[in-house]
Amino acid sequence: RDVPVLAVAPAGPEGLANGLWRLELENPGFTGVKPGQFAMLRPPAWGFDPLWARPLSISRALDDRIVFHFLVAGRGTAAFTRLAPGEPVTVWGPLGQGFAVEPGAPTLLVGGGIGIAPFVEYAATHPTPGKLALLFGHRPPRSCYPYDELGAMIAVESFQDKTPEDIPRFVELLEKRIAEHAGGLVLACGPTPLLRSVKNLADKHGVRAQVSLENRMACGVGACLGCVAENPEGHRVQTCVKGPVFWADKVTL
Ligand code: FES
Repeated sequence: RDVPVLAVAPAGPEGLANGLWRLELENPGFTGVKPGQFAMLRPPAWGFDPLWARPLSISRALDDRIVFHFLVAGRGTAAFTRLAPGEPVTVWGPLGQGFAVEPGAPTLLVGGGIGIAPFVEYAATHPTPGKLALLFGHRPPRSCYPYDELGAMIAVESFQDKTPEDIPRFVELLEKRIAEHAGGLVLACGPTPLLRSVKNLADKHGVRAQVSLENRMACGVGACLGCVAENPEGHRVQTCVKGPVFWADKVTL
């Protein structure tokens, strides 16, 4: 369905320099969105170039609008930054599997960089916010991420990754927080090394974990096989249909 752009702007004052943007589209009729689901977007003005739609994680699903936060990572996402308010975008979704929601279970969200995006919807719709905390690892500056939006809803711990030496310190902190959630749930979205650490640490401390994969996608509906991941049995699975959120023990990282 084609819907108009409501707003597109760099996310935060330094957004332009950091390539992080916020895009708002009229809600094309999405209902019952699960945090972690995504949509495929393609402005008709693209013609044949770029050819394929681009997936964006849904950051917030409101009655009147859908909000996305994205990182400029190539020609498609760069083209999104040139959209103008009122311009039509063809959207299909919500797609894929979202994160588990267990209201009574202590739940730790782990976001790496723009991997924080789906947790805005998670925090906003979680029935027991007191049971929810977010550990957010990122490069400075923080203002280009939807950090304040999240901080207004749940406890957020931020870790700035400024030098390579910071990474082991972050992993140490991650282990501490995961160990504190024994019997609960850890949900992670971000770069693969982060997901791998979450998977290993959750396993070590007996915490159930889900990870959201950032595989490339072209169709978003299981038709092109462009997004396959592998499960521990060595079988290929379509990230767009079976994921992007997987139980950590059901996918090879
Ligand atoms: Fe086409 Fe997943 S993106 S099969």
